[in-house]
Amino acid sequence: MNCEIRFLPMNIRVMVSSGTTVLEGARKLGLPLHSLCTGNGACGKCLIISEQKEEALSQLTLSEKLSLGTGLLAQGYRLACLTRVDRDVTIRIPAESLRAWVPLAKESAKVLDLSSYPPRRDYESVKRALGIAVDLGTTTLAGYLHDLKNQTLLRSAAVPNPQVLYGADVLTRINYGVNSTDGVKELHKTLFHGLNELLITLLQGSSWQGGDVLRIAIVGNTFMHHSFLGLELLSLSQYPFAPVLTEGLTLRVGDLGGEVPLLLEPSTLVDVLPLVGGFVGSDLLVGLLATGVIHSPEPFLFMDLGTNCEVALGNKDRILVTSTSAGPAFEGGALACGMQAQPGAIDDVNLSPPNTAVRTIHHLPPLGLCGSGAISLLAGLLKRGIVDSLGHLLAPNGLIKEQSAYVLDLPNQNKIGLTNKDIGELQKAKAAVYAAAAVLASDFGVSLDKIRQVYVAGAFGTYLPLNHAITIGLLADYHPDVITPAGNAAGDGVRMVLVSEELHQELRPVLSKIELLNMGEHPLFMDEFIKAMFFPHEDLHWFEP
Ligand code: FES
Repeated sequence: MNCEIRFLPMNIRVMVSSGTTVLEGARKLGLPLHSLCTGNGACGKCLIISEQKEEALSQLTLSEKLSLGTGLLAQGYRLACLTRVDRDVTIRIPAESLRAWVPLAKESAKVLDLSSYPPRRDYESVKRALGIAVDLGTTTLAGYLHDLKNQTLLRSAAVPNPQVLYGADVLTRINYGVNSTDGVKELHKTLFHGLNELLITLLQGSSWQGGDVLRIAIVGNTFMHHSFLGLELLSLSQYPFAPVLTEGLTLRVGDLGGEVPLLLEPSTLVDVLPLVGGFVGSDLLVGLLATGVIHSPEPFLFMDLGTNCEVALGNKDRILVTSTSAGPAFEGGALACGMQAQPGAIDDVNLSPPNTAVRTIHHLPPLGLCGSGAISLLAGLLKRGIVDSLGHLLAPNGLIKEQSAYVLDLPNQNKIGLTNKDIGELQKAKAAVYAAAAVLASDFGVSLDKIRQVYVAGAFGTYLPLNHAITIGLLADYHPDVITPAGNAAGDGVRMVLVSEELHQELRPVLSKIELLNMGEHPLFMDEFIKAMFFPHEDLHWFEP
């Protein structure tokens, strides 16, 4: 039997067979409902509200009861992934479950100095030649439209990566790809829907056509690279986590295959840039190119902070790199009141008495904490002794989702704050990153505090208040002059490669200097991780006030 699910407030409908979950129905429509755990009832993020009597829905499961607690249950909340329908129903999706649906603002892309690198010669005789550089982020797809004849940036845009439907982090998505029938195809199809949305956003309202785009260049982490090419994911799911392919490729759009074609001419060239290896992708490689550290005789530290953190340490002769999973906490995931850095997210907190002051993105009423807001609040709690050096919340002042928490004193109804569990997530994330940097420094033969060039890339890294990052021990106590926020270094780097053949050719010698370290099997990592689990660190030598 078929039944109809009507989704509010957007008032759109989908026909599904009886027994389908509400989450599956939402996916059929492409609604980006949060589903960090990919639908096994663990994350509690896929909240929905039934608009009619409960009989139309499957009975509450024990997992739902435990996840929702009496408070949310009393308000009619259910979990979309565990709620099945067997007749026509109307379901309301609360705003917090649809956060990824908020369109992202157009990126203000950096002006690149390309004066020493001439445009690609291939397009000298063509009347119009456009190129698109694409950074396939786990959370966001960023695109940059360039004139290939004179290298000018014409437009930039970013859209949410719709694969977030299958998990917020790459490990959950790999798991989905490996364990679901047609999982790899589904991930590929979903990604290409997102890429087409990006292409439309870049080209709409202009006189440019898809046919004017003669070349695109693609970077991303290893999972995103494999997903773009539709490669099998099994080898990324098991030790030694080896990519199927690391070499750079130049293809045509027509070669890409898959159910959803890219909205470009089949003859358009596609440069898929090479991976470093393991979970370190081409995004790190071009990030190093963009910051110019590859020419530095002095040691540098480069960190691209996100769900999957990539860390590099080296100089012009030798570069050690690794990746470490920080989990989704830095991007607001896995936190009781977490959200992505979108309008309404708290990105800075000042706990100074008499009033708590928060800053939100676009100055909207606060909806939740993004990664930098969570770190800022944690730093404030550490400074006031409300959280101790082991990460214990010593003076909770309320409950959030039935867990003891520090709740911000805000003049609205939303309870926003950090729970004990949230503090633990942030603690593990910062310890993983710090430990990775410490291990690279040790292998390179330099003391972490002696490094005088530190680049922090990624959207989270860009907006992160550095003093708070030092307070929690994510970074050593560097002088502010030493740290450079590198913005979307991967986006800058892929743009450089798109418009300059010379810079494209620079990637190969850089790759030959890179040594990939696996933190999972490094003898020092666990020791460093345990030391970094203290706030700010077990060794306070580098964190003197
Ligand atoms: S609880 Fe995680 S997707 Fe439903």
